[in-house]
Amino acid sequence: MKTKIIRVKDDQIDNSELEVIDEAFKAGKLVVFPTETVYGLGANGLDEEASMNIFRAKGRPADNPLILHIAEVSQIRELVDEIPDIAVNLIDMFWPGPLTLIFKRSKMISDVITGGLDTVAIRMPSHPLARKILQHTRLPIAAPSANLSGKPSPTSLERVVEDLDGKVDIIVDGGRTNYGIESTVVDLTENPPIILRPGGVTTEDLKVIVPDIRTDSTILDASDDRIPKSPGQKYKHYAPIAECYTFAGALDIIVKNINKQIRENADKKIAVLATEETKDSYEGAYMVINLGSRDNLIEVAHNLFEALRQCDDSKVDVIYAEGFEFRGLGVGIMNRLLKASSGRVIFGL
Ligand code: TXA
Ligand code: MG
Repeated sequence: MKTKIIRVKDDQIDNSELEVIDEAFKAGKLVVFPTETVYGLGANGLDEEASMNIFRAKGRPADNPLILHIAEVSQIRELVDEIPDIAVNLIDMFWPGPLTLIFKRSKMISDVITGGLDTVAIRMPSHPLARKILQHTRLPIAAPSANLSGKPSPTSLERVVEDLDGKVDIIVDGGRTNYGIESTVVDLTENPPIILRPGGVTTEDLKVIVPDIRTDSTILDASDDRIPKSPGQKYKHYAPIAECYTFAGALDIIVKNINKQIRENADKKIAVLATEETKDSYEGAYMVINLGSRDNLIEVAHNLFEALRQCDDSKVDVIYAEGFEFRGLGVGIMNRLLKASSGRVIFGL
């Protein structure tokens, strides 16, 4: 199939283009669009055949459920069985934005969307372009991240094209996405609610509304081999081709340990994922990527997936990634790094 690219500047999209996108959704086609987190691979969430095509295009396992994207809160009503009180407060505070909420599903939701679960994930993105597209179509749009299954999520048009050119009908180009890591997923069917995937909205933010919120313990502990509650968390994810190691502990020790590994692996092509504060501290690596300042984790998250893809482009053998504190956005960043490292963590005291 020939993929059509709709180029948009400063989120100014014509009505005629919104119409083309809406018609594509209604015809069961696949449309990639930017959200504030990562690009999403969208289809009409009420069209079972179209939703199945998402799984085909990505090579995604059928038991990994999809998030439905909406523009107005009123759209939830027909999609869910019940709306708990706590949902109303969370929605007031965080929507539109990078928070996905899990509800008991209504009968109209297909098993294809939920991967056979009796729950459904819903989110209202804040990206202006995503909002315009969703407002125009009015359909709930099923959209996983627009990468081939297992690869880092795409944060730019170029990375979407790399993975999905010829496999989708339309790609809407909205430039680089803002957050860079995916939305926080919170399961509201449990009491107290559980964070299944850390992301753009932090645990500290959520605790303001839900003081007793818990975190699924499997998402940060690489040695915990219990099955995560969120099906997507059990798959190899965000994985670069190179072998990746995450270094944890105090920053000076991280730098020392990475330098030691560089020296001991001089025969290998090495990439270091560093930060503004440490980028000049490494000698002998093939490349040192500066993710941004440790004082600005939004910038680090924004650059993370692109950096992993750059490592693949350069065909490095190993990636040594500096770790971050399990606080604020650092939790989401560490979750992605630990997945990219398949649990290979080097601690130093
Ligand atoms: O930021 C985002 O959430 C992006 C943008 C495109 O919206 N989307 C995204 O979708 O990251 P995806 O499919 O790559 O990740 C969705 C995650 C998966 O880990 C999936 O298992 C989980 O949400 N999920 C979806 N429905 C669920 C459900 N009913 N119960 C538990 N987990 C669910
Ligand atoms: Mg994904």
